[in-house]
Amino acid sequence: MKVVVVANFDSMSAEVAKMVFGQITRKPNSVLGLATGSTPLGVYELLVEYHARGADFSRLTTFNLDEYVGLGPDHPQSYHWYMNENLFSKVNINPERTFIPDGLAPDLEAECQRYEKLIQQAGGIDLQLLGIGTNGHIGFNEPGTEFGIETHVVDLAESTIRDNARFFESIDEVPTRAISMGIKTIMQAKEVILMASGGSKADAVYAAVRGPVTTAVPASVLQLHPFATVVVDQAAASRL
Ligand code: GLP
Repeated sequence: MKVVVVANFDSMSAEVAKMVFGQITRKPNSVLGLATGSTPLGVYELLVEYHARGADFSRLTTFNLDEYVGLGPDHPQSYHWYMNENLFSKVNINPERTFIPDGLAPDLEAECQRYEKLIQQAGGIDLQLLGIGTNGHIGFNEPGTEFGIETHVVDLAESTIRDNARFFESIDEVPTRAISMGIKTIMQAKEVILMASGGSKADAVYAAVRGPVTTAVPASVLQLHPFATVVVDQAAASRL
């Protein structure tokens, strides 16, 4: 696991955007795994700038990590909406090659299997972006999730519901379930980048990078990944 400590949110975003751009340049038909939340917002902004300066996204395929159960693409807090708003509508990506789990699927189990199959059919993920929850979650794989699990339906931890309430009118509106790529799905990506910014992530980053590999801290599994890079700002790295 390579750890890169940078000054702040902007330098974290610049570093990761450069790595993603490098991947797209080396392999224009890359399969990217994408994350949501506040952490990757700067990366997406910079990728939009790369596109404005000529970067071509037309041959990419993307798979998002997760989606809330019960929120459709028209809901402003859905990850479909987020991706469209922050990246897809601003670059020349082929909408038919962007995949996000369907949180409105009538049969959620079938949706999980369908999603996992789509990833396999695309040849697997070349580069997976990840944020980290304050409890160490990646995607929506909460503490306690077995490492061998593929895309699955998740009951969100109380702490995650509290953390994400800031995006909703009230905490009661935060969905309690999500569909998430599993740890196994994430670990099968050829390369992963975990990003973290700010002091609120310092404990989770410390546990993920320096602690034991344990299901109690889902991100700690990345210590076992052959090509994992952690890009953190000084505040998030303060305990390392
Ligand atoms: C969310 C997402 C994760 C994200 C994490 C951190 O619940 N499911 O993919 O990495 O929590 O979010 P943020 O970047 O807003 O701190």
